Amino acid sequence: MAHELLQYRNLKLFWNDVALSDQLQKLNTPAYVYSRDLLTQRFQAFQDAFPKGRLHFAMKSNHNEALLKHLHQLGSHLDVVSIGEAEKAIQCGFRPDQILFSGPGKTQSEINKALEWGLFQINVESADEIQKIKKTGMRARIGLRWTPGLDVKTHPFIKTSHTDTKFGLSFEEIDQLIPEILKDPHLHLQGFSLHLGSQILDLSDFDLAFSSYLEMVLSLQKKYPEMDLKTLDIGGGLGLNYQNSDVDADTQRLQDYKKIVERHFGKIPFQILFEPGRFLVARSGGILTEVQVVKKTKNKKIVVLDAGMNNLMRPVLYQAHHQVLPLIQRKGESEIVDLVGPLCESSDFIALDRSMSALQVGDKLWVADCGAYGSSMASDYNLRPRALEIFIEDLESLRA
Ligand code: LLP
Repeated sequence: MAHELLQYRNLKLFWNDVALSDQLQKLNTPAYVYSRDLLTQRFQAFQDAFPKGRLHFAMKSNHNEALLKHLHQLGSHLDVVSIGEAEKAIQCGFRPDQILFSGPGKTQSEINKALEWGLFQINVESADEIQKIKKTGMRARIGLRWTPGLDVKTHPFIKTSHTDTKFGLSFEEIDQLIPEILKDPHLHLQGFSLHLGSQILDLSDFDLAFSSYLEMVLSLQKKYPEMDLKTLDIGGGLGLNYQNSDVDADTQRLQDYKKIVERHFGKIPFQILFEPGRFLVARSGGILTEVQVVKKTKNKKIVVLDAGMNNLMRPVLYQAHHQVLPLIQRKGESEIVDLVGPLCESSDFIALDRSMSALQVGDKLWVADCGAYGSSMASDYNLRPRALEIFIEDLESLRA
């Protein structure tokens, strides 16, 4: 059974049973609109699937302050990839011991701060990083990030576990580093970490990687019995279908993922860490945009919106598909149009060759599933102002 989050009823677009045309008609555009209700549902579904797991929301996918505060209230932990993210997380109420620090190019000053602040674990991705940690002379809880050498099925820009990647360490490197780490009384090797890549829909990639991951960890534990392992980080990466908004299919995918995770890690004595980003937040937000110009060229119809790649990079960068839906559907023939942004360069688009009902200047459109890697990747290009970000539950506060 499909349950679409986005549905037309009497030509009006409803999102999670809210009529967007009624709620958003007066909101300035472009605007990121989030739903606290959906965010809660997604977080709880993930937590319910893994009651014993520790959820470290991948903050890179969305660093909106209100969103982070809400996730904090729900009991989330965080995965950060810069000291800037860690600082903001702490401002939003997270304790340092709820924060995992990942990233392939941590600077000395980031490492100094992470250790001063007492972050939960540093996921180390290179031998150079170990040297930087040693240089501080401070006690450090570390995890070693392993690269399985697996070419997962996703866009090449968001794969992270193939052999020639800047991410993580090979088995040989890990095997070489462990004796050095164990010799240093300041270093506590408390876990391993793995992150395959993002927007993974073929779950057999997880199955394959988890199986060799566990095998590797158990063999290392045998070889180095003095290791005091506490955590096993299995990363994020669970994808969703952007062609529709079928949340029942998402639930099914989560259940399938759970089965794989349990099959491999159900009986091991370490705490399993998860780093989901997209799966928690993508469906919880969209962009409201307004049609500014409709023009016909010799062969094309071009619709210029007030949202562009400065607001949403994903279509341009990964040829990613986002549904674009008018708040009020117009009856009549649909036509093929390019939906482009207002920036002064031709790479700026939201959707190309899309079939849409006839659009007019002033029409409001909804760009779906922008809660992950939307606002967090936005830029100031052309000095267009950053889009407003608001929770649909807080719209009243704007009117006040
Ligand atoms: N953990 C690590 C170490 C990561 O690098 C990432 C994402 C995650 C967790 C979360 O992955 P997720 O559950 O969200 O798939 N900008 C791209 C996605 C880049 C993902 C980067 N790393 C996009 O818009 O598709």
